[in-house]
Amino acid sequence: MTSEPKNLVDQSREGEVLVLTIQNPPVNAFGVGVPEGLHAGLDVAEADDTIRAVVIIGGGRTFVAGADIRTFDLPREQSPDLRGTVDRLDQFSKPVVAAIHGTALGGGLELALACTYRVAVAGAQLGLPEVKLGVLPGAGGTQRLPRVVGVQKALEMMVSGNPIRAEEADQISLIDELIDGDLLTGAVAFARAHVDVTPLPRVSEKAAEGGSPELFVAARAGLGKTHKGQLSPGLIVDLAEMATQVPFAEGYAAEGQLFMRAKDSVQSRGLRHIFFAEREAGKIPGLDKNTPQTEIKSAGIIGAGTMGGGIAMNFLNVGIPVTIVETTQEALDRGLGVVRKNYENTAKKGRMTQGDVEKRMGLLTPTLKMEDLKDADIIIEAVFENMDVKKEIFGKLDAIAKPGAILASNTSTLDVNEIASATKRPESVIGLHFFSPANVMRLLEIVRAEKTSDSVLATGMALAKRIKKIGVVVGVCDGFVGNRMVHRYGDEARKMVEEGARPQDADAAMHKLGLPMGPFEMSDMAGLDVGYLIRQHQAKVAGQPKPDGWLDRIVEAGRKGQKTQAGIYDYPDGRKPVPAASTDELLSTFRSEKGLTSREVGQDEATKRLTYSLVNEGAQILDEGIAQRASDIDVIYVYGYGFPAYRGGPMKYADEQGLKSVVADLEQYGQTPAPLLKRLADDGKTFADWDREKARG
Ligand code: 3HC
Repeated sequence: MTSEPKNLVDQSREGEVLVLTIQNPPVNAFGVGVPEGLHAGLDVAEADDTIRAVVIIGGGRTFVAGADIRTFDLPREQSPDLRGTVDRLDQFSKPVVAAIHGTALGGGLELALACTYRVAVAGAQLGLPEVKLGVLPGAGGTQRLPRVVGVQKALEMMVSGNPIRAEEADQISLIDELIDGDLLTGAVAFARAHVDVTPLPRVSEKAAEGGSPELFVAARAGLGKTHKGQLSPGLIVDLAEMATQVPFAEGYAAEGQLFMRAKDSVQSRGLRHIFFAEREAGKIPGLDKNTPQTEIKSAGIIGAGTMGGGIAMNFLNVGIPVTIVETTQEALDRGLGVVRKNYENTAKKGRMTQGDVEKRMGLLTPTLKMEDLKDADIIIEAVFENMDVKKEIFGKLDAIAKPGAILASNTSTLDVNEIASATKRPESVIGLHFFSPANVMRLLEIVRAEKTSDSVLATGMALAKRIKKIGVVVGVCDGFVGNRMVHRYGDEARKMVEEGARPQDADAAMHKLGLPMGPFEMSDMAGLDVGYLIRQHQAKVAGQPKPDGWLDRIVEAGRKGQKTQAGIYDYPDGRKPVPAASTDELLSTFRSEKGLTSREVGQDEATKRLTYSLVNEGAQILDEGIAQRASDIDVIYVYGYGFPAYRGGPMKYADEQGLKSVVADLEQYGQTPAPLLKRLADDGKTFADWDREKARG
């Protein structure tokens, strides 16, 4: 029995116009069933003389948002044939109008570019974001877009991957008409008005204007800053240059080959992993989709320091009024001053008007009285890390906050269960761990405490989305996911230096992997005194002798990091780390006093030891259920710690290396593999397998 080919395209008639409506919710990705349906529609249009034009439109909320990324790893013969479809459209004998609303992205815009005409409603977004997935436009985009909007604009769009709005697309003739009112009615009217045009305009027959050798030199030079270490952006520039030099068919053929190369690269696998991981992170197993949520119309923040001010900005940016509390007028004035200055700097760069600055500042109410938080829907505590202080604050909040208000702590390490116990409503307490600078970093660890209610958790997730953060749910433990892993990583880095590595070598190993900062640059930036005080405190509590590591000695020498212009590194210009002779001297004294023999630690060893220490702790965290998925850990490391997205995060990186070899390396370097990691390696599995099996239950 042969089954009918899948067809995801509806056909309808509007007089002499055939309307093809793509129905592949939620985003009309160009998946199996779409090309079949479009070809079927084009067959009808070709065979019927009474049909004089075709309109292609998306059903539901959008035009085609791209090729179906889930089909990228299918064998070619099972993949939806996007290229075959655009080839047919390019040569079609009757005018075809792409009618765009929502988003026309990637393969969606390429489909539209192969049509005779494009129309769109205001606010629709058009773009070629393939670079963000480590690939390049593979269905003619690199050859057609430069022919339509000119080489410079095409490069800008394809290299950044950022979409433009239909209004701009209209100005640069990427679309032929901006439709006012109903899209389908406008598109059909446009099609009718063009049925007699001969010959039909075809993008592939145009020339790509505006390319010059200098433009391509500058474009390639720019990639070092924006896309260091990445494959696909360079290929995109090469192809855009070809669009100016060779006939369409030749450039198009080259694009096909280079697309396959990029698609099969480890970088594209990493970026696609993160694309889906980010969306998965928003899903909480067992949490009913219809869980009632608290409507957040106002927020209170306790503490106007760097974190409190940064957190406030997230709310102000989306129009949520904030009341911010401090203990002294001076601290309040300073905090508000910093928020204003941040906004004014943005305005100076032209990314905001002075009116926007005033509007946001107008939503911020400073106060010295905690009682002023009585009407807030959510209250976030952002004071320094001290359990007694936090418990006292939560005790007071319990008496002040209105019933149903969410009480959140921005703690980065402390036990949220204990904080919640200071209230009579632990179900309303949650951890919201923002990353510094809180107005910039996209990650938000959402700490689900033992008694946090489903409603509070669901509200926290929705709030993250509203304030444009990527929320990841984590459980309670010291440091949650991100900082707990980073502590292990810091320990390993310190140990490597004891063995003979120079701090700059450890940092260089991580730069090579694509991280903007290595472990020691990061410690200097965060302030060495923070870790120092914690170590001293922990030793005291445990009745152990005063710690005397090399890093403790650096702090005791008055070098606290970037803020004192001296830490592990020197900071002659205040910002850029320069290896410090004093650190070398201190290290050699330290090693000889402790009887340590120095040996050379190679870059490969340094990279493995540091990265795998993250992976090993990550595996332990997974096993304990502190993170829901390995892919959540990747999201945390990419958005909170600058792990390169094109490597997919530490857990994906380990999967790509093979867990057997990760275990062997850990053992070689004296680390004990976590039981889960060992089990997966023994079974020949990956963290992705573990995630899949867990999702199946
Ligand atoms: N393929 C497969 N699935 C996709 C998809 C795509 N291109 N785009 C989105 N989805 C899925 C998401 O994974 C999500 O699935 P889930 O509900 O199971 O988690 C669902 O559609 C909804 O997506 P979002 O949650 O992201 O919805 P938003 O409304 O927030 O955003 C969007 C919509 C702006 C379209 C966003 O999804 C997006 O940016 N998608 C990717 C667009 C893209 O990169 N297109 C280019 C693809 S590569 C290509 O076309 C190659 C070609 O040149 C050959």
